[in-house]
Amino acid sequence: MNVSPKWICHPQDGRETRLVPVFRRRFSVKSSLKSAVLHLTAHGLYETEINGKAVTRNRFTPGFTSYYYRIQVQKYDVTGLLQQGSNEWSTTVGDGWWRWNNNFGYVLALYGFLELNYTDGSRDTIVTDGQFDVSTGPIIRTDLQKGEIYDACVIPSDWIPAVVCTEHTGGELIETQSVPVREMETFAGKALRDRAGNLVFDFGQNIAGYIRMKLRNTKRGQMIRIKHGEALTPDGLFSTANCDGGKQEFQEIRYICAGREEEAYTPHFAVFGFHYCLVEGLEDFNDVELTAVAVYSAMEETGKFTCSNPLLNRLVENARWSQKGNFLDVPVDCPTRERNTWTGDAMIYCRTAAWLMNVREFFDKWLRDQTIEQYASGKVGITFPSTSSIHHPEEVKRLQEQNPGLTVAGPDGNGHIGEDSVGWGDSSVWIPYQMYLMYGDISFLERQYDTAKRWTDYSLRCMKEKNSRYQKESWYQNGDGDYIYDTRFHYGEWNEPLPPEPEILKLFAEGGTPADYVAYMAQVGRPEVATAYTARSCHILAEMAGMLGKEGDAVYYGNLFEKIRTAYDRYLIAENGIIREGHQAPYIRALALNLVSEKKKPLVINQLKKELKAAGYHLNTGFLSTVYLLPVLCDLGLKDEAFQILEQTEAPGWLHPIILGATTMLENWDGMDTFRDSFNHYSFGAVCEFLFEYVAGIRPRFDGPGFQKFDLRPVIGGTLTWAKAEYKTTYGRIRSEWSLKNGELTYLCEVPDGTEAHLLLPDGQRHILQGGYYEFKAGL
Ligand code: BGC
Repeated sequence: MNVSPKWICHPQDGRETRLVPVFRRRFSVKSSLKSAVLHLTAHGLYETEINGKAVTRNRFTPGFTSYYYRIQVQKYDVTGLLQQGSNEWSTTVGDGWWRWNNNFGYVLALYGFLELNYTDGSRDTIVTDGQFDVSTGPIIRTDLQKGEIYDACVIPSDWIPAVVCTEHTGGELIETQSVPVREMETFAGKALRDRAGNLVFDFGQNIAGYIRMKLRNTKRGQMIRIKHGEALTPDGLFSTANCDGGKQEFQEIRYICAGREEEAYTPHFAVFGFHYCLVEGLEDFNDVELTAVAVYSAMEETGKFTCSNPLLNRLVENARWSQKGNFLDVPVDCPTRERNTWTGDAMIYCRTAAWLMNVREFFDKWLRDQTIEQYASGKVGITFPSTSSIHHPEEVKRLQEQNPGLTVAGPDGNGHIGEDSVGWGDSSVWIPYQMYLMYGDISFLERQYDTAKRWTDYSLRCMKEKNSRYQKESWYQNGDGDYIYDTRFHYGEWNEPLPPEPEILKLFAEGGTPADYVAYMAQVGRPEVATAYTARSCHILAEMAGMLGKEGDAVYYGNLFEKIRTAYDRYLIAENGIIREGHQAPYIRALALNLVSEKKKPLVINQLKKELKAAGYHLNTGFLSTVYLLPVLCDLGLKDEAFQILEQTEAPGWLHPIILGATTMLENWDGMDTFRDSFNHYSFGAVCEFLFEYVAGIRPRFDGPGFQKFDLRPVIGGTLTWAKAEYKTTYGRIRSEWSLKNGELTYLCEVPDGTEAHLLLPDGQRHILQGGYYEFKAGL
């Protein structure tokens, strides 16, 4: 269709004014309207109404993409909202991700058109242009994280003509790919007083979303402040100290009452991570009613897991709640402090994400932005669309004056020092591969292959750099320096529940800043992590290449994997099997990624056993290795150890926070005891992969991706007397269930038509099963 809408804005909007514009267009509809379609997008987030009725129940539209390169347009059938004669279309635009941290732009703008088709074949279009009026309304200020100031006394007036926006007008307009973000579960707030006597509401669940507020008997101009936090401190006070990152303005609503007998309010363009709200400005419980609304990408729930240990059942639901709390159009680390679109977290968790909910479209959309924002060097952002580097050229200039180290996002940018980080950048290889496995959709590999390859080549180039700190090491002496990656900054295991290394303690004791730490670590490198993950990416890339018929690449990266693997075994694993004492991660990593020779394997396993014992069968792995810990132990025949760690109720361990009342996954195992860091960090929820694939035993296979073929290999262990899981595939439901009675195992399964299951029971029985229901008895 030949239409030419303009990006329109409020003439006074800008970096300092930060207006929240309301656009209005009055128009007339002739008789015999056949259909009406609205096409809309914004720089910022929009809420649009026709004749006072919301056009959509979708929230946070147009979603978050790498706006300078692609921006989504939504399409709505609005026939039913129009009437013959005069009509009014009005739209409010809030900051959203466009102006969050001033990341993309200073000015909010609207773009779209309304298409009116009549039964006689004629057509009218109304496009965004200077014929729109603009004003500001009751939303005085809005920020995704800081919150919203809303003055219910304000009614938009003083309309002036909207103007054409001259700021960067974003990238290609594309059809929306987002899984719609919706208001999902609601939780009624229970009023209580915290230890200081503050009026607090407890919603019973930590979520990301916002509140619906009903007020009674207010006075005009009275201000109600609502703060959102994740927990009460151990001594019973409302506080956001664990998750606000020291920010002054954080997750707060300021509502100025209109002074009606009853009034209601729901935030428009803000989302908070919370379980509790603190209400100021009201004396009494009776004057306010709060309901919490969980808001996230409406992904279908696909997997269920339950067993005889109720704490494990809660663990699965906590992971699901953290997924819901962090998958709002893009995945973020936590819905509170950072809200960064961290790649490492998503990489670690993506397979669990697919077990719990259908994330096919969600990751499909997100990965495309990774490709777009990949740096020319092949480096991949630690966050994308980048929330850790700035897109807006003027903003970069402005901020670089205060902070010369500030980094620029996008292909032409210079990138953040963390963006060399293995494990984070390797998300470009891992996520599409896992999505292919879980959904059988080869387009994940086809589309992402080049991105994955460019990243791996980048890491391989960095691997060739020399680090003078290690010049005496035998890998340099023997001419194998090209296969040990000992340079650059890497986040590494991140968050191992262990005391920091002495050098790091010294650095901070001498007044070092986090930036000094990063600079120091960039000199030290992390050979045993960086080499391992580059090996893994070569290996997976070779597999992907094979699947895509790229034989040359399959051989090339396959050979590189072998060379790196040999070097790893030779130089990074000592003759006695020690890799790094006091840590479990190095052993788990090397074993999981197949980097240990047959000769050293028993020694490495021995060291691992020693480490587990020394830690009292608590885990001490960090971000990267925790997901591998339990599967590796089971594969090595150390099932008892695996279950002991899994069912451990003291910190560090998955069940400890649950005993203390956690309803989501924590960033730190002892976060609730110490009241520190995020209480809604999904990464460690990746243990669900073990529950589905080992305890319940349903395992996807690459020779029948998307569960066309799968294994059923239940692992019976720990205190469990029964376990069951089910999973919805495109073929139908898979079910796997076992129970133990008097040393005998009863195993039940359901295999969807069109699939093939390879069952292995603990007593060695093997069966190949086609569609149907089955029951087996087995010994242990
Ligand atoms: C985030 C993590 C992230 C990490 C990088 C943290 O501050 O919360 O989830 O992956 O930084 O190591």
